[in-house]
Amino acid sequence: MGETAWLDDLGRYINPGIARAYSFLGVLSPEVRAQGAFVYDAQGDRYVDMGGGYGVMVHGYLHPRIVARAKAQLDKIALPSRSLPVLEPIELARRLAEITPGDLQYSFFCNSGAEANEAALKFARLRTRRAGFVSAHGAFHGKTFGALSVSGRDLYKDPFRPLLQDVQLVPYGDAEALRAVVDEQTAAVILEPIQGEGGVIVPPQGYLRAAREICDRAGAMLIFDEVQSGMARTGHYFACEHEGVTPDFLTVSKALGGGIMPIGACVGTPSAMGFLDEMPLIHTSTFGGGGGGGAPLTTAVACEAIDVMRDEDFCGQAREKGAILREGLLRIQAEFPEVISDVRGRGLMLGLETAREGVGGMLMSELLHRKVLALWTLNNERVLRMIPPIVIAVETIEEVLRTVREAAAEVALVAADL
Ligand SMILES: Cc1ncc(COP(=O)(O)O)c(C=O)c1O
Repeated sequence: MGETAWLDDLGRYINPGIARAYSFLGVLSPEVRAQGAFVYDAQGDRYVDMGGGYGVMVHGYLHPRIVARAKAQLDKIALPSRSLPVLEPIELARRLAEITPGDLQYSFFCNSGAEANEAALKFARLRTRRAGFVSAHGAFHGKTFGALSVSGRDLYKDPFRPLLQDVQLVPYGDAEALRAVVDEQTAAVILEPIQGEGGVIVPPQGYLRAAREICDRAGAMLIFDEVQSGMARTGHYFACEHEGVTPDFLTVSKALGGGIMPIGACVGTPSAMGFLDEMPLIHTSTFGGGGGGGAPLTTAVACEAIDVMRDEDFCGQAREKGAILREGLLRIQAEFPEVISDVRGRGLMLGLETAREGVGGMLMSELLHRKVLALWTLNNERVLRMIPPIVIAVETIEEVLRTVREAAAEVALVAADL
């Protein structure tokens, strides 16, 4: 096989557009192993993954405790008969009830963030017997039909219309806009407590609380999508805790799998999930949950992921390391305002807004050539995200800051002419 035959095959058998993009970016060696905050390509080059595997790698790649738990579980049982109950999903649901705020208690397990949101949307309809949904511009909740219907970017929605009817989008962070549309037809309001793909948007203080009050008045459910902001990344287990607000349904995925397994969960309050008593099989999936629970392998790994977060004080680490990264990025912004116009976020969920169209792509490509992976933002192309593993060492953050400065200086040379 020639050195880049894999790229031809990627184009031939998986996705020609993506193969072209890798070619264009000069990515000519695939990723073959990873550890902690680092990934290594086939040539042995080391990259710092500031994108944390698109937000999955809160624990870093192949955390030893999580790998050990997965291996031990594989010697016992991986997937269940589904005819008898298994213990691991019960263990995980209890842990989720303990770490989620307020009276969130019942867990439905699934395989992805989109599926967790699908479940929340369906459960809200069951609970309210209403049809309407309200979500926010810039939102990203996944690409299945329901989750896509409440997402905020037409580019991904237009080819698939008609989507779910009865969806209204309002500007994110504007409580009065929300108040104006939520009424007795509304089954649920779905919001990210910090928008990720919208460009790392932290809403004004009081917004989440106002959303809670607006939903309560209208008898509508409140869904917080913590698929990206959840699991310690922002300095609390869940970003809604910054305002002390509990939703009726909280969805989580990405980091729940400890960087090893795909898993999602929709956690609901007893009142919101009251339908389970009468309709225990109303929403199920073979590899996910419903009925008895979830799969032993994925849920055992997720239990260990939660225990590691607690034992290694991931919330404290996210706050401390986030402050170091943020201050460093703010210094670079002050030096190169023609490249970086804003640095925002909480903990280790940070966004760099670039000064104009085109600059984000240039900065990302300069970083890539210097072996730092930053993340593109699906619904806001001017923003690069830095959502690295919480286990990243402070020295690595300092190394990254030196690299970002170098890359910004390079981009500054041409940014003025754009
Ligand atoms: C906030 C949020 N919700 C939902 C999703 C969809 O998750 P998945 O890609 O696992 O379906 C994402 C993915 O990035 C996300 O960031």
